[in-house]
Amino acid sequence: MTANPSEAIEGRARVPGDKSISHRALMIGALATGQSTIEGLLEGEDVLRTAAAMQALGAEVERDSSGTWRVWGRGIGGLIEPDQVLDMGNSGTGARLLLGILASHSLTAILTGDASLRSRPMARVAAPLREMGAQLLAREGCRLPLTVVGSGEAAPISYKLPVASAQVKSAVLFAGLNAPGATSVIEPTPTRDHTERMLRTFGANINIVQGNEGRVITLQGQPELMGQSLRVPGDPSSAAFPLVAAAMLPGSRLSLEGIGMNPHRTGLIDTLQEMGARIEIENPHEEAGEPVADISIEAGPLSGVEVPAWRAPSMIDEYPILAVAAACAQGVTVMHGLAELRVKESDRLSAVARGLTACGVEVEEGPDSVTVHGMAGRVPGGAVVETALDHRIAMSFLVLGLNAERPIAVDDAGPIETSFPGFAELMTGLGAKLTAP
Ligand code: S3P
Repeated sequence: MTANPSEAIEGRARVPGDKSISHRALMIGALATGQSTIEGLLEGEDVLRTAAAMQALGAEVERDSSGTWRVWGRGIGGLIEPDQVLDMGNSGTGARLLLGILASHSLTAILTGDASLRSRPMARVAAPLREMGAQLLAREGCRLPLTVVGSGEAAPISYKLPVASAQVKSAVLFAGLNAPGATSVIEPTPTRDHTERMLRTFGANINIVQGNEGRVITLQGQPELMGQSLRVPGDPSSAAFPLVAAAMLPGSRLSLEGIGMNPHRTGLIDTLQEMGARIEIENPHEEAGEPVADISIEAGPLSGVEVPAWRAPSMIDEYPILAVAAACAQGVTVMHGLAELRVKESDRLSAVARGLTACGVEVEEGPDSVTVHGMAGRVPGGAVVETALDHRIAMSFLVLGLNAERPIAVDDAGPIETSFPGFAELMTGLGAKLTAP
């Protein structure tokens, strides 16, 4: 796919459902008793893999013709052994959260994924899950394919997160659902709390306090989760792409409706505002325990900023698109605390640095930081950027191509389907000039 120099981005739109919340809705629905109804589920490949995995584990999962999903759960501890390998595709969230669930079920399962997922570290979840009693046998470096032998008698633990990761936190809490007594996770740096919010909505007892070492989340094991009706908010990580396009392209005016505003996800909005973006948050309300609002943005000049390391967990997936905004801003932007970007769907630090360099932008890549020298307007462009099976790298550079002097192409737009089906149609409808191939 190729992004061609474009004029203003204009209109109102909705982006697909939140990926993190969609995975959790299917998984928690499968662990509840009774029926759960999910509106606005993200129908991207990552989430469809989770739906298929929950079915392979014995839950009934169905989509009706109006796009509503229904899950009939099997109750805590009630999943059955799958008779096939669970292929989680490109999804680190799907794989790691599912490992948590499987760890405290008396069954054996084998997980695999695509080349990107098979290269990602699983030791971060294997360590606490082994402590709880599960056995995990994986390839060199604790990579997929991996076999998990869950324990029907898992032990509750108290686990301090060595890395700021909502996936690890969620895996431990999910394992704790079928362990007797209290499982605690201590988070020195807070991360997205969708698991805690949704487990509460389904009836789990979760206590959260601020301790000396960080936030302590304690779950009482073996609750009875009851099926719920949920509406999944629009994904702020998907909204980021049209928002940055509109922030940069002169004359743009865009409103996005029903976007998730969980404070652990809004770091990009804060950063764009610091850069001078004209953003309004309207109609704030709550849906299924999550804050939601409409976001409006008007184009205006952006200036470079220093993004502190402590903000990283609240915008961990948004650095590639922030780097695009930084490339078109006036002045230098420095982003700190980015070590985790190296183990995402691709090594995003080097993918961003290589891509921007190819597009004529001056960039310095540090071990866990990136410095972008803004060009105060359109970048030169005229490159083909390698997406390395990474949806966010693909979408970020397509957005950059809209604000370049010459087109920017991505070698493989296929991965966009994992999180943002309809990306090209939505962007084109707003005025972006995207063409195939
Ligand atoms: C996610 C957590 C984040 C994020 C990922 C989704 C989640 O990963 O990058 O896209 O749904 O819990 P980490 O928690 O590993 O940083």
